[in-house]
Amino acid sequence: QHIIHITAEMAPIAKVGGLGDVVTGLAKAALARGHFVTVMLPFYECLPKGQIEGLKHEMDIEVPKGYRWDGEIMVGSLKTSVFWGRVQGCPVFLLKPADDTNCNIFRGGRIYGGSYNEMEAYLYFCRACLEYLRVSNQHPHVLQLHDWHAAAASLLYWDVYNPSGASRTRVMLTIHNMDNTGECRQDEFSFTGVPGEAFATIDKALDERTIGHNPERLNLMKGGIVYANAVTTVSPTYAREVMTGGAAGWLRNTFARPELSDKFYGILNGIDTEEWNPATDPLLAANFDADRPAGKALCKRFLQEGLGLEVDPKKPLVAVVSRLVPQKGIHLIKAALFRTVERGGQFVLLGSGHSDPVFRGLAEGQFKDHPNCRLKIMYSERLAHQIYAAADVVVVPSMFEPCGLTQMIALRYGAVPLVRRTGGLADTVFDLDHAPPGSGARNGFTFDGADDPSLHGALDRALELYAAQPSRWAALAQDNMRLDVSWGKSAKSYVDVYRSISPP
Ligand code: ADP
Ligand code: GLC
Repeated sequence: QHIIHITAEMAPIAKVGGLGDVVTGLAKAALARGHFVTVMLPFYECLPKGQIEGLKHEMDIEVPKGYRWDGEIMVGSLKTSVFWGRVQGCPVFLLKPADDTNCNIFRGGRIYGGSYNEMEAYLYFCRACLEYLRVSNQHPHVLQLHDWHAAAASLLYWDVYNPSGASRTRVMLTIHNMDNTGECRQDEFSFTGVPGEAFATIDKALDERTIGHNPERLNLMKGGIVYANAVTTVSPTYAREVMTGGAAGWLRNTFARPELSDKFYGILNGIDTEEWNPATDPLLAANFDADRPAGKALCKRFLQEGLGLEVDPKKPLVAVVSRLVPQKGIHLIKAALFRTVERGGQFVLLGSGHSDPVFRGLAEGQFKDHPNCRLKIMYSERLAHQIYAAADVVVVPSMFEPCGLTQMIALRYGAVPLVRRTGGLADTVFDLDHAPPGSGARNGFTFDGADDPSLHGALDRALELYAAQPSRWAALAQDNMRLDVSWGKSAKSYVDVYRSISPP
């Protein structure tokens, strides 16, 4: 099969969270199975070009594009450069405006929140990807679109590029998070080069206006869902929460459409087990795995020393590595911090996001130079690897979690995950004491409530086991390292869906 991913993130060159990890991990897994896979990514100004192998200019194309002119959006075109290279062996096309001296798109020091208008930039990007595929005469079996940034390509493909269905290409939309569905005004949609008013089918995508949904706005994810041949999300439990629970939010009517149940799949993410391999990880002070677990103690000592914590192999090291946004359960992360320290454990947080100030305040106040607590408000791939390797417990107390990768990385690095039982966390972590028979191997601690006592209950059980039964803990950590968290099974599930939507 020939698969082309359209995405805003790709690890390690353009990663903000799990989306980047998943695109690279899934692409590599499908490549390894003999499929022909390419990724299309914005050529952000901030990309580390040195990490793109064989980077070269492929061609320039003219991409239809809307411009604001005197209060209205007029359709013109934007000359766009397409570059090619490889990232960890995976072929990548990178697109950006050819002359960006007068154009901000994808400029700035960060992936998101740069100096450009995100809606304009991603709508242009969707159009540019499809235009390049047309000009270069590429007809993949499947275009796999990720999240709202790429969702408009689903509408554009079926309306502008293949209205008759004659080309073999089919569209899969993969939803990583329903929290951000991408909303724009109808006139803003003209940034795609298709005038909003001429694009009558937008209304088809908007046909039932969800209660509370702003009728003036077009929801790109919704349009993407309606037009896609298959829609996937990143775990079976989140898929159920979207279909029957509250997770679909404003889009609940869209998911209630009868045809949705036949084209909607929940496929559990894996992790890239080459990237996340404690036996070979070059960022660690010592390597280890289930058969040679001794290096983990060295990693713990290295982190304690490096962060200026008390060096004590017997203190349980509890860690959180997370974007700091409401989804991740900010109040519960705080509760875990206070409880751990109160009970004589060590707590390390690595995170950044909207809720930075909450933890900055604690880091500079109450926990400044604390011997058992470090709050690192930053993004650091290196420190993340070192924390997973050192941690005894990794806490993921999310309010909702489409899949979550950190709990799987924790397992692989011999830590015990402690999670709130929601979305993909419920599909990957099974409580040592309470998991019902028939669920997966018992590998951690879970809780259900969203209040501090619920978290305390699970954390207390973990800390007690750690203190009272060190050999059972060590055996658990070893068993966790042996669990299969790779892309193996899930890559096969994706390939099954690719096949099922491809014309014979
Ligand atoms: P989400 O995509 O919602 O952020 P996931 O659990 O799917 O959550 O993926 C998070 C990814 O981002 C993991 O690879 C995690 O290690 C990484 N990560 C999150 N915050 C940081 C940070 N501050 N520094 C380094 N890596 C981080
Ligand atoms: C999103 C979700 C996270 C998921 C990731 C990769 O960012 O928040 O749960 O693991 O995408 O699919």
